[in-house]
Amino acid sequence: MKPDDLHDRARAPGPSDEFLHDVVEGLSRAQKTLPCRYFYDARGSELFEEITALPEYYPTRVEAAILRDCAPQIAARTAPGSVLVEFGSGSSTKTELLLSQMRDLAAYVAIDVSSSALEDARKRLRDRCPGLRVDTVVGDFWSAQIAPDLANAPRVGFFPGSTIGNLEPADAQALLQRFASMLGERARLIIGVDVMKPASILIPAYDDAQGVTAAFNLNLLTRGNRELGADFDVGAFRHVAIWNEAKTRIEMRLVSLREQIVHVGGRAFPFAVGETIHTENSHKWPAEIFDRIVERAGWRVAAQWTDPDQLFRVLELRALA
Ligand SMILES: C[S@@+](CC[C@H](N)C(=O)[O-])C[C@H]1O[C@@H](n2cnc3c(N)ncnc32)[C@H](O)[C@@H]1O
Repeated sequence: MKPDDLHDRARAPGPSDEFLHDVVEGLSRAQKTLPCRYFYDARGSELFEEITALPEYYPTRVEAAILRDCAPQIAARTAPGSVLVEFGSGSSTKTELLLSQMRDLAAYVAIDVSSSALEDARKRLRDRCPGLRVDTVVGDFWSAQIAPDLANAPRVGFFPGSTIGNLEPADAQALLQRFASMLGERARLIIGVDVMKPASILIPAYDDAQGVTAAFNLNLLTRGNRELGADFDVGAFRHVAIWNEAKTRIEMRLVSLREQIVHVGGRAFPFAVGETIHTENSHKWPAEIFDRIVERAGWRVAAQWTDPDQLFRVLELRALA
């Protein structure tokens, strides 16, 4: 596990111990934080799916259109008997665009922290892709492993959704290095990355008119109350999305609407009016900055595709020899 601003955590014996540790540690900081990977309990995964269908949320629509176009080329370069390994697979909806073209896979391995999303995806793929071996791995893509009997098959990684943008640049590089070592020699990685664009497009994408993204962000507090016995007054926090120009990223935060004290894990955390919990970053790196991260992580850009408005990029990376 690689630490970053929002993911700094020690190894702990079990998921809820780890969650408790991370919440207490995050709320103890001068700038309070909660790690974004905890968004995805069953309700959070459902809300994320609703977000992907919102008119303001262009990334899913645009990336899916790009993948629809480039999937035949990606499939043509995939050796029979390969394994497709997806990191943070969620509903695996975009994956179907690749699977429909990749005929002779040894297996599709879906890795996600959300067991409910994996289970739904597994059931759907059983009907849609009969005969395909689907392995679901509930776990953290920083450390998850694939089944040993697939060790010798060529591997193609898939990391859509611009999930890489949730990380600080140094951590994005470290994660891509980890994927290179996990995918092995002659690895390929198909990755979707969002690009910089006016804040007038970005802010509504992360703060929609129907309030679905707000519900998604606030669900983190509900999850803390349910799983950790915390006493967040969910109605006393408000979702905001801010464009951080210097770091070229959208920051999602929860703003305390009043002076209050939150209790969790036997600790008390005071909040001033207007004080925020920083819950997620979504970097929108200029192409040359992201491509430098890729190269430093041991990959080269072998192919890239975009949409007519150049809102999003899908890259095919190849491991440097
Ligand atoms: C932005 S969503 C993208 C979902 C899907 N890949 C897509 O493109 O629509 C991020 C996904 O990554 C998962 N995730 C986040 N952090 C993770 C981690 N550290 N390890 C494994 N999965 C993670 C979440 O549960 C969620 O399904």
